[in-house]
Amino acid sequence: MQIVIDQADELGWAPANVHYEQFNSGVVGLHNTGFTVNLTLSGRSLEVRANQTLLDALLEQGVDAYYDCRSGVCGSCMVPMTAGQSDHRDTFLSEAEKQENSLICTCVSRAMPGVTLELDI
Ligand code: FES
Repeated sequence: MQIVIDQADELGWAPANVHYEQFNSGVVGLHNTGFTVNLTLSGRSLEVRANQTLLDALLEQGVDAYYDCRSGVCGSCMVPMTAGQSDHRDTFLSEAEKQENSLICTCVSRAMPGVTLELDI
């Protein structure tokens, strides 16, 4: 699927005109590390284990987090991020939005290694 997406990009297709459907998170098999998340609005801090998603860590700590697909395609789990560098693994945010680094899809995206994220929740 990525080959087709890359080929369309090379041929000058606008990303909005390239449609596809993904049926898993693409996270399985990736090397993950744990990281810390500070929730600025609630003043809480939590640890995301290497073997769990940020969304699952939020839910485990009782945060009323929205989600739907759990695979990075719908954007339902997206939250504002005020600090830190995200390893964006979703296909919902545009490349420009990922570069801006002010939103994160918690179901699949993580912090870059060694980075603490601050979420505006
Ligand atoms: S729940 Fe759909 S993108 Fe995260």
